[in-house]
Amino acid sequence: MTQMEGKVALVTGAASGIGRASALALARAGAAVCVSDINDKGAAETAARIMDAGGKAIALTCDVTEAADVSMMVAATVEAFGSLDAAVNNAGIAGSFDARLHEADDQLFERVLAVNLRGVWHCMKAELAQMLARGGGSIVNIASVAGLIGAPKAAAYTASKHAVVGLSKSAAIEYAKLGIRVNAICPAYTDTAMAQSAIEGNPLMARIMERAIPMGRLGGASEIAEAVVWLCSDASSFVTGHSLALDGGLVAL
Ligand code: NAI
Repeated sequence: MTQMEGKVALVTGAASGIGRASALALARAGAAVCVSDINDKGAAETAARIMDAGGKAIALTCDVTEAADVSMMVAATVEAFGSLDAAVNNAGIAGSFDARLHEADDQLFERVLAVNLRGVWHCMKAELAQMLARGGGSIVNIASVAGLIGAPKAAAYTASKHAVVGLSKSAAIEYAKLGIRVNAICPAYTDTAMAQSAIEGNPLMARIMERAIPMGRLGGASEIAEAVVWLCSDASSFVTGHSLALDGGLVAL
């Protein structure tokens, strides 16, 4: 797989889960990858795995809620590898999945919006400015099926992911004639630390998740990463403004 040969990509939240799988897959496809996360050890481990396999990577500590961190991440990527062709805005948190809206915690609402929405906002601003300067690129925002349908007891998360889908569509239209494509990926429950922490808090959750998905199983991070590589690459050159559900049939219900 060499769809990304000679290209430069960055992935936020790449210390674990979908972000790590995406960074590894982009590197396998030939990209030089900036691996960024608030978790510096995890980011360094992802970058080390890429380099051990013969790929090119740098690891950066970046809190996506901080515009200055995000600017630094984009500048450091360009300094290290010469350009920015693809960006995967993946960093996100679940917040809490156990309170109805009127009982939900206000601070948690603010935090979920800060990471999942403002983080993507900061990233898109810096990435779009860089991609405009060099005449093109592809941005992939990791939303969720909760960006397409409602999710009970997860109003803040659902609102943040619907907003990510909206940001992606608006930007896709704004930059369509300027060589920049913007798409969202909407996974259903995927077997990562995020899903595992929900299962630990509620042992029934694994069965609930599996039953919600027509295929009867959780997704794998590597299954999401396959679509990330495709949307980052020229193989998807006529696709923009799309919200791709990777969900074992969930939103078809
Ligand atoms: P994860 O918890 O394994 O990975 C999330 C990563 O984001 C972590 O490495 C974490 O350190 C990083 N992160 C958190 N806050 C950050 C911040 N302020 N700045 C930079 N990095 C930060 O979770 P997972 O499952 O891999 O999630 C990745 C994305 O996929 C998230 O946006 C999540 O909402 C989305 N998603 C996950 C699903 C699932 O079932 N696992 C389903 C649908 C969407």
